[in-house]
Amino acid sequence: MSEAARTMVQANSDAAREATREAELGFLWDFWYPAIRSNEIVGARLATAVLLEVPLVLGRTAEGKAFAMRDSCPHRGIPLSYGHLDGQALECCYHGWKFDACSGRCIEIPSLASQDKLKVERIFAGHCPCEERDGYVWVYMSSRGRTTSDNAPGTQAQETVPPAPALPVFSERYKITHLACELPSHIDHGIIGLMDPAHGPFVHQSWFWRSRHSIHEKEKKFEPIPNGFRMSKHEPSSNSAPYKILRYFSGQPTTTMIDFVLPNMRFEEIRSGHLWFSSRTTVTPVRRDLCRIDFVAAWNIFLPKWIFRLFAKQFLRQDQETMIQQAEGLKHNPRLMLIDDADRPAKWYFALKANLLESRRTGAAMAHPMNGPTTLRWRS
Ligand code: FES
Ligand SMILES: [Fe+2]
Repeated sequence: MSEAARTMVQANSDAAREATREAELGFLWDFWYPAIRSNEIVGARLATAVLLEVPLVLGRTAEGKAFAMRDSCPHRGIPLSYGHLDGQALECCYHGWKFDACSGRCIEIPSLASQDKLKVERIFAGHCPCEERDGYVWVYMSSRGRTTSDNAPGTQAQETVPPAPALPVFSERYKITHLACELPSHIDHGIIGLMDPAHGPFVHQSWFWRSRHSIHEKEKKFEPIPNGFRMSKHEPSSNSAPYKILRYFSGQPTTTMIDFVLPNMRFEEIRSGHLWFSSRTTVTPVRRDLCRIDFVAAWNIFLPKWIFRLFAKQFLRQDQETMIQQAEGLKHNPRLMLIDDADRPAKWYFALKANLLESRRTGAAMAHPMNGPTTLRWRS
């Protein structure tokens, strides 16, 4: 077999292996994911993150533009994060190749002599679209550019990337706060934990929120939205103190609405007259056995940040402790169940994910697992 043919066969089996691996991992590519907080990249400091098992190096140019590259030099694979950023370009620590931070394009190979014909500008370090929103550096994890061969010349065609997600806010002035925690589980368990109403009375017992005795039958309306589903706008249940406070201060009816949108976002919006509270929780896959919850909340009600953070941290910790315990059980690959109606949102999540992958595979429009508005009933 010629060298060229061998390379081709190798490339094809690489691609096949990559496709199988991807199906097994259950990650959704071609979406934005929050990689790090904006304040982690100041000056010439480089930060690292892992998204969907891809190591990334992130930084900020002298003009303040955030960038993200694969944390791997296309020359010999050493992490670029060991290199040096001069404000525009990232220099590899091994042989000093320099890459433009905003495009990944190679701009200098110090070892080249005057007779060398190598076209430096045709070499690229893996590079990802990068935007800052709500205090996070978001990285678009494209299904292209995942293999080293995608760094080859001529494979850097521009793709259409949608704008990064933003937290809805409803007035000019507001408070905003961020929290994060890691969960030792696959993204799917992180997400179904996020949308699971039935664990509330058992995991989130707290004097200010609720006790397990406050459990009662609930009925919520859901409706399909693009790439997700919505718990339709409704008056929240009476057992929750924060809603009572809102109603007290605004003197107006209080409504809440919760959206889940692929790949990993839960938005909650509470409005009461001119007062509002808005939050977004994302569960981001780091590795197949690790994900991270990023929680951001903004509000214009009288609620000091520290008080809110105290309670929100407790909430997250309760979820985290439960997921750590769950991971212990999941190690042994038990059979699991999803029951109606309390687990129906989880069923929708899995169906949305499968339908999205199917529509990407066939090119047909994505089928929505819900036929229209639906009412779910459970006790929580
Ligand atoms: S490994 Fe980066 S320049 Fe050689
Ligand atoms: Fe929870």
